[in-house]
Amino acid sequence: MKLYIIANRLPVKVQQDAEGNFSFERSEGGLATGLSSLNSEMDTHWVGWPGIFVEDPTQREAITRDLEKLNFHPVFLTEAQIQNYYEGYSNNTIWPLCHYFYSYIVYDADYWAAYKEVNELFCTEVTARIKPGDIAWVHDYQLMLLPRMIREKVQDLSIGYFHHIPFPSYELFRVLPERAELLQGLLGADLIAFHTHGYMRHFISTIERVMGLGVMLDRFLHGNRFVYVDVLPMGINYDLYNQAILKPAVQQKARAFRNNYGEHKLILSVDRLDYSKGILHRLKGFARFLEQHPGYHEKVSLVMVVVPSRDSVEMYAKLKRHIDELIGSINGRYSTINWTPVFYFYHSLPFEELVALYHIADVALVSPLRDGMNLVAKEYVAAKRNSPGVLILSEMAGASTELSAAIIINPNDINQISDSLQKAIEMPVEEQLANLHLMQSLISRHTVHRWAYNFMDKLQHIRQINIENIKKRRVGQTAERLRRC
Ligand code: UDP
Ligand code: G6P
Repeated sequence: MKLYIIANRLPVKVQQDAEGNFSFERSEGGLATGLSSLNSEMDTHWVGWPGIFVEDPTQREAITRDLEKLNFHPVFLTEAQIQNYYEGYSNNTIWPLCHYFYSYIVYDADYWAAYKEVNELFCTEVTARIKPGDIAWVHDYQLMLLPRMIREKVQDLSIGYFHHIPFPSYELFRVLPERAELLQGLLGADLIAFHTHGYMRHFISTIERVMGLGVMLDRFLHGNRFVYVDVLPMGINYDLYNQAILKPAVQQKARAFRNNYGEHKLILSVDRLDYSKGILHRLKGFARFLEQHPGYHEKVSLVMVVVPSRDSVEMYAKLKRHIDELIGSINGRYSTINWTPVFYFYHSLPFEELVALYHIADVALVSPLRDGMNLVAKEYVAAKRNSPGVLILSEMAGASTELSAAIIINPNDINQISDSLQKAIEMPVEEQLANLHLMQSLISRHTVHRWAYNFMDKLQHIRQINIENIKKRRVGQTAERLRRC
């Protein structure tokens, strides 16, 4: 039995240098970093986009050969598909919808056509390989039509779907002209899972109202199958982050950062470039803190890591300009010869540098306006190991339901961000350690491995239920026929 993990992005992305040579780098984003840590006992294969536009068939073949050594099977997209499926329907329509950015939603018939076309392309790649009895695990909003497409082509498969982003309330989801087609697509799965109860509740009420299906607690009958819904919050590879500081390379980075930043208290912020992450509100909150607490000038710095993402989508490009301007204005106003208030990195960091920063940062300020989960918050807590530190976490992040020992804030409230920074910086070390310990004990148990195991386990269980159910129906139908004769 093989497991096929199908996501828009493979865990590695292909890069091309100035000489035209290709290399592989790990992909950023919670889905890719989380799933790449899985070491399933099953023969696991991945299907996904390699993150680059390549037209030349010889180059495509060379990339495919190299990726297949890792059991990664690329789905290449044309420039138009990247524009209309990835930047378009996925990130200009569904993403703002699911993150409650109503006015950012773009409706465009070409986007929808490309979305269907690319979901079909994924289906062709998967069904060329998958065999009856295998498992297809589809991930995220870019591939909502895929479960049904796969089921129509190959019978006797277990198909799971995990939605990594928020599922909005019915009142919002209903605005989508293609709402019913997307839900139909998902109903091809046997199990549809979410990070939080809130997202699952929204999904159930949407299914009831758009599709007119009656939901029995956590399942509904669709044709001759039960489709189950569940809440399975994704975890991290805890040991990887918790033990990182034991590595000499990470210790060396941590020392180097400390030397660079001096004795300042460090507030850390790490996100992909995204309006859902609340980066501008966070900067305003930090500026308010500096305004209200002159005593902390030259004593506190914000280290802001923004990983480039989707910057050819207009709203992202605009956000990047606003971030640059705001950081410029904060540093312009407050910097001194001895002090830079905001250190800004607009690129991703190598793993060793990221975990070294997690380890030394006195405060992690994680304040998304909406976030399906937010793994950065969990990684910070894990990487602290036995060192003190304070997590400030938005109530709008899925992670806040588990990390309730953090300082929980409303990310729209600039004053609250400022107050929480003061509270974090002044929190006694024993209290910091106690809070971290509480959160570490939870996330060290609810790891990404356990998450995947639970998902697979549930999927197998549903398979048995559905096989039994179909058998019973057949027996019932035969009995009914005999009775009539
Ligand atoms: N990340 C990374 N390189 C960086 C900064 C972040 O690989 O330079 C990773 C980080 O470790 C985390 C992921 O990007 O696993 C971000 O996931 P999260 O769930 O916080 O947000 P998402 O980007 O999925 O919305
Ligand atoms: C979020 C989404 C993922 C996506 C990731 C990075 O985590 O849930 O599906 O892969 O962001 O975004 P990108 O557009 O670069 O793949």
